Amino acid sequence: MNFELFNQHDGAPATDKAFALFPQLMKFHTELGNTPLQPVPSPTGKATILAKFESNNPFGSVKDRTAFGLFCDAINQHDFSNGELKLLDSSGGNMAKALAKLGNMCGIAVQVVIPDSSPEALIDMLKSDNAVVTLVDRNHFLLGVIARSQQIALNDRSWTLLSQHLNLVNTAVHQYQTGEEIRHQLNGTCADGWVSAVGTGGTLSGVSAALSQDNPQLVVWGTTPQELPYGTLSAPNGEAKFAGAGGLGYGFRQPFIGQLMPQEPPFKTVSYREALSAMYEFFHLTGIKIGASSAANWKVAWKLAQSMNPGQQVVTLFADAGSDMDRDKGREWFYHDETLNV
Ligand SMILES: Cc1ncc(COP(=O)(O)O)c(C=O)c1O
Repeated sequence: MNFELFNQHDGAPATDKAFALFPQLMKFHTELGNTPLQPVPSPTGKATILAKFESNNPFGSVKDRTAFGLFCDAINQHDFSNGELKLLDSSGGNMAKALAKLGNMCGIAVQVVIPDSSPEALIDMLKSDNAVVTLVDRNHFLLGVIARSQQIALNDRSWTLLSQHLNLVNTAVHQYQTGEEIRHQLNGTCADGWVSAVGTGGTLSGVSAALSQDNPQLVVWGTTPQELPYGTLSAPNGEAKFAGAGGLGYGFRQPFIGQLMPQEPPFKTVSYREALSAMYEFFHLTGIKIGASSAANWKVAWKLAQSMNPGQQVVTLFADAGSDMDRDKGREWFYHDETLNV
């Protein structure tokens, strides 16, 4: 398996060629990003938590940004006179959805490699967007889907592997777009803390690079599932965990973090049960739907905010809105665990 980073960028990829060849992307682009950064329930008398609501993106998640960046870069690099462009990548779910929808919109073939634990509704949606869906045994989790996508690309050179875990377009999108938006939205103030779940680590490392420009003392915490934490020496597993994030297993670490962050941040674990329960709790408190990784981030941001003073700000990111099914499961656990705590 290849673990080398590639495709260094000093900004998000140019869009001119993509817009010229596929003008339908322009409307998508006008709706992409500029998502709200809003205060969310925070510990009394301590720092305020601000969350970036990425469910406001056109296909419903933060991965719309990364997918669009990777998509434009692949179009920029492809010589269409040599044949069609066919895009391939591994995903935990949201990237697959965004790529399939972009591909369908432009008539570009897309193949996604995802764990076989992916919800039936997601698989159906991918197929209805004409994506080729390759399922990998859930027990191999992220390493499994990355390895399979690399194998497919080696065996059939007609597929362009986007490689969201290694392609530096991913971190560039978060540094120069997501991170810059947050800096602008902070309106002359700065973030004291930054909390993000880690799938590829693109969001955590890219936004860190942007926010630390205004505050070199920025405190960064990563959020990771208790069932397979970042950097764990254990083998990957197919246990239920909050979606969109996870360790790779066998001591592997997401290359973006190891190589792009001057210091590896502490990682705080959140169990599947805690994340789903917090999904419900957040909805109960605010009436707003957030996904499991968002809820996990909220819990970790809460702990960081508790260690800070009033007037300070902890920024986090809510990657998607999650599903009602997960929130309903979380509701049961929320009340059950509360009863146990009494
Ligand atoms: C729901 C959710 N949360 C968090 C992440 C983590 O993003 P990143 O890959 O930038 O680490 C993802 C990525 O797919 C996601 O889908």
